[in-house]
Amino acid sequence: MTKVFVTDLVLRDGHQSLIATRMQTADMLPICSKLDQVGFWSLEAWGGATFDACVRFLREDPWERLRKLRKALPNTRIQMLLRGQNLLGYRNYSDDVVRAFVQKSADNGVDVFRVFDAMNDLRNLRVSIETVKAAGKHAEGAICYTTSPVHNIPHFVELAKGLAEMGCDTIAIKDMAGLLTPYSAFELVQAIRAATQLPIHTHSHATSGLAHMTHLKAVEAGASIIDTCVGAFAEGASHPTTQSLVAALAGTEYDTGLSLPLIEEISAYFKDVRKKYWQFESAFTGTDTRVLINQVPGGMISNLANQLKEQGAIDRMDAVLEEIPHVREDLGYPPLVTPTSQIVGTQAALNVLTGARYKSVTNEVKLYLQGRYGKAPGHINEEVRKIAIGNLDVTTCRPADLMADELDKLRGEIEGLAKSDEDVLTYAMFPEIGKTWLQERAAGTLRPEALPPPGAAQQDSAPRYAADEFKITLHGETYHIKLSGSGRSDASQRPYFVSVDGISEEVLVEPLNEVAVTGNDSAQRKTAAAPGASGQKPRPSHPGHVTAAMPGTIVDVLVSIGQLVKAGDGVLVIEAMKMENEVQAPITGIVLSVFAKKGDAVTPDMALVEIQPE
Ligand code: CO
Repeated sequence: MTKVFVTDLVLRDGHQSLIATRMQTADMLPICSKLDQVGFWSLEAWGGATFDACVRFLREDPWERLRKLRKALPNTRIQMLLRGQNLLGYRNYSDDVVRAFVQKSADNGVDVFRVFDAMNDLRNLRVSIETVKAAGKHAEGAICYTTSPVHNIPHFVELAKGLAEMGCDTIAIKDMAGLLTPYSAFELVQAIRAATQLPIHTHSHATSGLAHMTHLKAVEAGASIIDTCVGAFAEGASHPTTQSLVAALAGTEYDTGLSLPLIEEISAYFKDVRKKYWQFESAFTGTDTRVLINQVPGGMISNLANQLKEQGAIDRMDAVLEEIPHVREDLGYPPLVTPTSQIVGTQAALNVLTGARYKSVTNEVKLYLQGRYGKAPGHINEEVRKIAIGNLDVTTCRPADLMADELDKLRGEIEGLAKSDEDVLTYAMFPEIGKTWLQERAAGTLRPEALPPPGAAQQDSAPRYAADEFKITLHGETYHIKLSGSGRSDASQRPYFVSVDGISEEVLVEPLNEVAVTGNDSAQRKTAAAPGASGQKPRPSHPGHVTAAMPGTIVDVLVSIGQLVKAGDGVLVIEAMKMENEVQAPITGIVLSVFAKKGDAVTPDMALVEIQPE
């Protein structure tokens, strides 16, 4: 039997890739009974950025979404994507948090856990996979596919063998950038099949135009499960169309047995849903082959473009794209996926903007070079390591082995607001926005970000605006403004939909640049806002200077002057580009100065805290 099975991605990666993960649960539930009839091997519905977007933008409870989907899809496996020891956050978590998160995900409805690590360091997958197996669920170990002098077939086969030894039920080849070519896929699948005998599941993005062919050759080589997305949310930065692959395999020994008319009905439903989210549309809906040359995934290119815009340096984009492969080589060729894509991209930007390689080094790169993300696939440039971290120790153990259990501490921090372990875990993933979400839930003030009225979409007179973010300082107060779209203008004014410091507002812009702000509490909130004028901060000049990896806003300062901190301790929390990053101490020592305070807008060329070595 070589029948091929299909995982549909419309409820997770499809809308994550095309409309910035904005699809609301209310738009998923009405179609679930039809999705449940198709006979998909699984529906990927949770994890990745969906959890983040639920809390941050949609103001939904991600756990509640999972329970609702579980109920609405009684016959289909629900699949999630998990970043190994990082779970759904952007740092390593202690083992007790990892176990609790996986167990609660299983309890609330996840059947298949696709687990990956950005470094492909299998030690970062071990605890998640053990817990998935102990919960009686399906463990799918994922290999991040990339190309480099060290990423050859024997390397990937070794990884696959390691995953098999950990007890994985299937192996996923996760091609997040659309780099996998059809004939490489054929060889890779054959080799992994021969070495492990495990079923192989392929995941690829359509960005470069190769993914349909790649799936087909993977199937011919023995892949059993392919990831696709119903047509309405397929192609471009998303995935090959489900209907096309079903049709391509129909009548062959690989026939999926799925009903095209039924999938078409589902696709028609989602086509209407997508219209509602027009202002979040990705710029990457066609084929973009640049990735085949510079290996920088589409999502990372747009992130970088935003970063450079904030730095007023968008004209250096080409130089940064050229610098990325150098930084990646120096760091031992990590695959470029969250969070390594950010780490490499930001350092490359710094190398270009400061005019010299590693003149300024982000904390993330310092920690990376200390082994705090795991083991790099290739050799690290020792000269760069020396510049960045001097004689600091390099960790060779599994990074989480250095962490004490933290679940009780997290529980204590959110006592009174968290009503369940699920709430505690939401807080653990996103300390700032998670806490705000819990507070607003308690106060009954959870409001989703505003969508423009349905009639506003794609009018001839209303050009589509890509989402844009910027900061303005008025009378000494800095506001974080995010433009999410605009409506149709009439003779006297035009509505714009923006969020100000995370709260949605409608702004009416009139000719002669007069601005009237409508909406309930904006005037009050502005008076209450903390003064954001940032004081002067020195440029980082020694290893004890703590810096931000990217432009952002300080959301918390965790240390005070005179405090003893150990290398790796949290010093600051920064929010930038949808990420909440704990900035950690690059060295052990005493806090000598704190230059940053809550609300400050900061860039990587500022020293935020100074630590004096012991
Ligand atoms: Co993907």
